Amino acid sequence: MRVLVTGGAGFIGSHYVRTLLAGGYPAFAGAEVVVLDLLTYAGTRTNLPDHPRLEFVHGDIRDPEAVAAAMAGVDVVVHFAAESHVDRSIRGAADFVSTNVLGTQVLLQGALDARVSRFVHVSTDEVYGSIDEGSWTEDRPLEPNSPYSASKAGSDLLARAYHRTYGLPVCITRCSNNYGPHQFPEKVIPLFVTNLLDGKKVPLYGDGLNVRDWLHVDDHCRGIQLVAEKGRDGEVYNIGGGTELTNLELTRRLLAAVGAGEEMIERVPDRLGHDRRYSVDWTKIRTELGYEPRRSFDEGLAETVRWYRENRAWWEPLKARA
Ligand SMILES: NC(=O)c1ccc[n+]([C@@H]2O[C@H](COP(=O)([O-])OP(=O)(O)OC[C@H]3O[C@@H](n4cnc5c(N)ncnc54)[C@H](O)[C@@H]3O)[C@@H](O)[C@H]2O)c1
Repeated sequence: MRVLVTGGAGFIGSHYVRTLLAGGYPAFAGAEVVVLDLLTYAGTRTNLPDHPRLEFVHGDIRDPEAVAAAMAGVDVVVHFAAESHVDRSIRGAADFVSTNVLGTQVLLQGALDARVSRFVHVSTDEVYGSIDEGSWTEDRPLEPNSPYSASKAGSDLLARAYHRTYGLPVCITRCSNNYGPHQFPEKVIPLFVTNLLDGKKVPLYGDGLNVRDWLHVDDHCRGIQLVAEKGRDGEVYNIGGGTELTNLELTRRLLAAVGAGEEMIERVPDRLGHDRRYSVDWTKIRTELGYEPRRSFDEGLAETVRWYRENRAWWEPLKARA
């Protein structure tokens, strides 16, 4: 079996690749892995091991030739590559539309031409918009609010269209917020942890009451793997089941984890168009595919903070680059 992982040098893609190569997904044991990654500011080769079954291709998902070459002999595509940071999309949306929408279309076409047997498109719960109460099921209309989530909604709908129109065996996953090791230090948890480790304050948006569901990256990747193995063609699967917290509650937990006080919080003006709350209903993946999150938030967060404490050599150059 040959698996193409796009964006495999980023946070979630690299976790998936490391787990797969370490034998964490028995159905894919012995699979060859091709990572196609442009190594933007967010991707680093240091996220990936040297491994005899891993081929790294430095290339762009928007480049049809690079995609066709990487796709040769591939059975399964797991598509993580994206511009992924909401704040960057607010400062400039063009790269988001280009990579997330156009790049995904080029990849879908390449997968169709190569006749792959499974294409997992890794989407996000942010495509649904914002919800004050209750949780979204997969049939809720998409109402994205940021350039990031709008570009992800565009790619999500293209993935659906390639199934409906051409019969490409696509599955789409929409997951809540991830945390864990190797997350780029611009996202809230690693930004706050690395700031605090350096004795710097943490910038908390607005009233701090925006709510997110935090899921360990390992649980997200297991959900993706279940969909890759057993998902039904053309279906969407929400992945959730983490811990819902306001940003203020999250910040307090991070302060406690590094032994800092509330004086380290710096209130900053709210993000433009800031979604108030995300919440996915993940009944479908649980009942159809047997997904259950395994990692407790308290343990996962403590382990994540420890990882950043012990891996300055990993994050210092990336933070300087950002
Ligand atoms: N981080 C989250 O909480 C979360 C939650 C749900 C879904 N997702 C989705 O999961 C996927 C991965 O997210 P992440 O947090 O690991 O992102 P990331 O920013 O850490 O990694 C993205 C990777 O894609 C690569 N890339 C960017 N543009 C490319 C291009 N044009 N061609 C090839 N490679 C390119 C980057 O070099 C990087 O390695 C994204 O599609 C994101 O929308 C993320």
